[in-house]
Amino acid sequence: MQKILVTGGLGYIGSHTVVELQNTGFEVIIIDNLSNSSLDVIEGITNITKSSPVFVKLDLRFKKDVEQFFDQHNDIEGIIHFAASKSVGESIENPLLYYENNLNTLIYLLKECKKHRINNLIFSSSCTVYGEPDSLPITEDAPVKKAISPYGNTKQISEEIISDMCSVSELKSISLRYFNPIGAHSSAEIGELPIGVPQNLVPFITQTAVGLRDYLSIFGNDYPTPDGTCIRDYIHVVDLAKAHVVALQRLLINKMNIPLEIFNVGTGRGCSVLEIVNAFEKVTDQKLNYKIVDRRSGDVVAVYADIQKANEILGWKSERTMEEALSSAWKWEQKIRNL
Ligand code: NAD
Ligand code: UFG
Repeated sequence: MQKILVTGGLGYIGSHTVVELQNTGFEVIIIDNLSNSSLDVIEGITNITKSSPVFVKLDLRFKKDVEQFFDQHNDIEGIIHFAASKSVGESIENPLLYYENNLNTLIYLLKECKKHRINNLIFSSSCTVYGEPDSLPITEDAPVKKAISPYGNTKQISEEIISDMCSVSELKSISLRYFNPIGAHSSAEIGELPIGVPQNLVPFITQTAVGLRDYLSIFGNDYPTPDGTCIRDYIHVVDLAKAHVVALQRLLINKMNIPLEIFNVGTGRGCSVLEIVNAFEKVTDQKLNYKIVDRRSGDVVAVYADIQKANEILGWKSERTMEEALSSAWKWEQKIRNL
């Protein structure tokens, strides 16, 4: 069995990816500092896969600890690097936290990759690198726009750092630019666990429906879109997790055309905020309290992926519907509230 290191593997996307990796036959070792996750996630993963991943609690900001980890684990064949801070708003308030956590951690990992000749890296990027697109659907060749937040900037800089390392070392990397992941595993054993008030749409919806929030604020209905609300490409987190497995397999069998390949990971379908709200009401058969409020600063009007490249080269496409994603998110919310 090939051993894969998953940093941030107890987080939202990481935990779903660990499940898919284990189900495909990979041996997984997780590094996480639990800054945005909990140890219970290991139990959820184990319940689904009947196999427990190895877990090492470690903060990747501490270089010596990272070095020590790699000195002790010399049989890692690939790394999927999820660990990062991910709140756009928090990054504007506290940019250094983001530059430190999202860039230093990557640099320390890359140093160890070079030293221990670990040449396969998958990086969690984001469609945020595109900013406000000039045309839709957006392809991987679209220009990377000036980042509107330090968080977005860390994703752009990370891709550049990886690219630079690919050209001077044996490193091969795939950068996956995620669109908007939503939903949970169908078992409701794992899902999204936002700390505090959720910033993202779907966790805010499920927390409103369960009674934790009075109402959902819809940020603006005067955008130049068919119903006036913003458009995004919402992808089921299990489909996103599966994209990591096929990308990893491509790296491991060395089928790369160039040392750094970039793929959009979305459904290719744009969906408005109101469409999500209506679909949620339909799949859960209940009314959702919501109010239209002012626009949120920094929101792009519309973004959705051109998925042809992932489809043709990775042989991957999303399979689950937005309704399935919403239904799984709702099942997960009810489970964690003991309903
Ligand atoms: P998450 O916060 O649920 O998971 C990240 C995990 O990394 C957490 O478990 C956290 O405890 C851990 N972590 C953070 N800093 C660490 C450190 N210094 N050392 C060790 N562990 C650390 O986030 P997620 O939604 O699963 O996102 C995973 C990755 O995907 C991130 O890089 C994020 O930027 C990227 N991404 C997420 C989205 C999204 O909407 N969720 C969209 C695009 C890209
Ligand atoms: N929205 C609301 N009310 C809310 C929350 C969100 O109306 O309470 C709207 C937003 O205005 C936006 C849409 O729902 O139009 C989606 O918002 P999210 O916050 O869920 O997602 P974003 O597209 O803003 O950003 C997400 C991640 C970023 C990542 C980006 C692209 O939060 O980290 O996707 O991957 F960079």
